[in-house]
Parts: sequence; C-alpha cells; structure tokens
Amino acid sequence: MGRLSGKRAIITGAGSGIGRASTLLFAAEGARVLAVDKVAEAAAETARMAGSAGEPVLSTAADAATESEVAACVEQAVSELGGLDIIYANAGISGGVTPLLDQSVESWTEILRVNLIGPFLAIKHAAPVMMRQQTGGSIICTASLAGMRGGGSTASYAASKAGVISLVQNASHNLMGTNIRVNAICPGLIETGMTRTLFERARERRTEGRIGHLNPLQRAGQPQEIAGMALFLASDEASYVNGQAIAVDGGHGSGLPFHRWRP
Ligand SMILES: NC(=O)c1ccc[n+]([C@@H]2O[C@H](COP(=O)([O-])OP(=O)(O)OC[C@H]3O[C@@H](n4cnc5c(N)ncnc54)[C@H](O)[C@@H]3O)[C@@H](O)[C@H]2O)c1
Repeated sequence: MGRLSGKRAIITGAGSGIGRASTLLFAAEGARVLAVDKVAEAAAETARMAGSAGEPVLSTAADAATESEVAACVEQAVSELGGLDIIYANAGISGGVTPLLDQSVESWTEILRVNLIGPFLAIKHAAPVMMRQQTGGSIICTASLAGMRGGGSTASYAASKAGVISLVQNASHNLMGTNIRVNAICPGLIETGMTRTLFERARERRTEGRIGHLNPLQRAGQPQEIAGMALFLASDEASYVNGQAIAVDGGHGSGLPFHRWRP
C-alpha cells in the first residue's frame, strides 16, 4: 500500500522541476495522476518517466491559468481517473529579472494570471467535484519563500506568491465544513528549469559553492525535497493541516542573513 493508494490527482506544471518530481513520487505512492503542462511533450515525457514503477500517469497539455482549460482538466480527471481527491496547482513562471521600476503592467498581469489566478482556478473547479464526492480532498498550491519575505525575487513574482499564501488561507475558510484542506508550499531556492540559468552560470564561474551560502543548510534544494512535502500534504497523514503556508527552504527564511555562526 502506497501513501496515496486509491487517490486521484491532478498536478500542473508537471513537465519539469517540482511538478515532474511530484508526479513521479505521487504515482510511485499509488496515486493515479493526470500530469498537466502547457508543453504537451514535457507532460508526456513525465508520464513516460513514471514508467511501470507505480500507477500509470496520464498527461495532457493545458494552460493552468485559462479557466476553460482548467475545467477541462478536472473533467478529464473525473472521466478517466474516476474522480478527484488531490489537485496540486504548481505551474508558475518567474517572469524574468527586470527591476521593479522598469516592469510593465503587461508583465505584472501575466505573472499574476499564471501564478495566482491559476491556483484560484484550480480551487474553483476542483473543490465542487470533491464536495460532490463527499470524500474531502487536498488542494496544494506552490507559493514561494519569496512570498513570505522581501528581497528574494522580483516584486511581481513575490507579490503573486504572497497572493497564493492569502488565497490558501482564505480558501480553507471558504471551504469550511467540506473536509477539503488547502495548503501552500513555499520552496526556497530549488534547482529546476526555472533556476537553471543561475546554476549554470555559477558552475561556469566556479562559484556554485556560494549558492545557498546564507542558508543554514548551505545548499540549494532539489525538486524531490518539495515533492516530499507535497506528498505529505496530499496524504491522509496531513489530515489536520489546513490553511497553512509551509516553507521548505533549508531554514533560509527562519532568520536574518547577517551572521554566519560556526558551531
Ligand atoms: N525553482 C525554485 O527555486 C522555486 C522556488 C519557489 C517557488 N517555485 C515555484 O515552483 C513551481 C514550479 O516551478 P519549477 O521551479 O519546478 O520550474 P520549472 O520551470 O522547472 O517548471 C515549471 C513548469 O510549469 C509549466 N508551466 C508554466 N506556466 C504554465 C501554465 N500557464 N500552464 C501550464 N503549465 C505551465 C512549465 O512549462 C514547466 O514545465 C512554480 O510555481 C514556481 O514559481 C520555484
């Protein structure tokens, strides 16, 4: 028996990084997963990678921030997986590194659309299915440490992720009495497609040892370390965890970055 045996899940942004690692882990733990990504081939590759080690993974191409496409994904899960117990609204974009005073309304609109309205749509379309099933459910959104503290990213990205934290806090109350739990994971710096350039440049300059040097664990994280938290939140082990924004950041957000204490 896997930790998600019998559960049906949608994971967005499943074609890379955290979404791919979570899809592979959920399937290995017995969930039937619909892997969603805007890039069809990437989602299909994740499904292929899941192989035969766990439950087979379905894949589909969709924009996780377009309402009709999110609704279609939920319908597909109901018809092809037989229902929906978990949705992990993980798809997100960084929006680049343009300084605040040079950012445009268009770039703010797009980052809020994907990073904040996307998770809202996941909740809006998944929760009614879970309520009809009367089996409760787990909704997980990927926020960021950048949504908890300033200075870790562009202002538009940080604001979109702070919005996700508020969204899960409020959605958990809006879904009162349904036994649907809504939580956010706030990753620190994780090596994924989104951060690839940073890691590649550091390796070229031989400064990769400095990545994460202000973090008590003194390293960046790997996608599997976020997938582990997603697995916990998706599972019945987290049955009393609701409305929370949980940092998975090696301790980076727990203190001020001034001192490098030595044991
Ligand atoms: N990597 C980090 O350091 C880090 C830190 C904090 C939070 N996050 C968040 O983690 C989540 C996953 O990002 P990642 O780091 O794995 O990056 P990634 O770029 O490796 O993966 C993101 C995936 O989402 C897909 N995607 C993007 N927009 C989409 C859309 N509109 N519809 C469907 N799919 C879409 C991409 O095609 C890609 O496959 C994001 O929400 C990101 O903001 C990442």
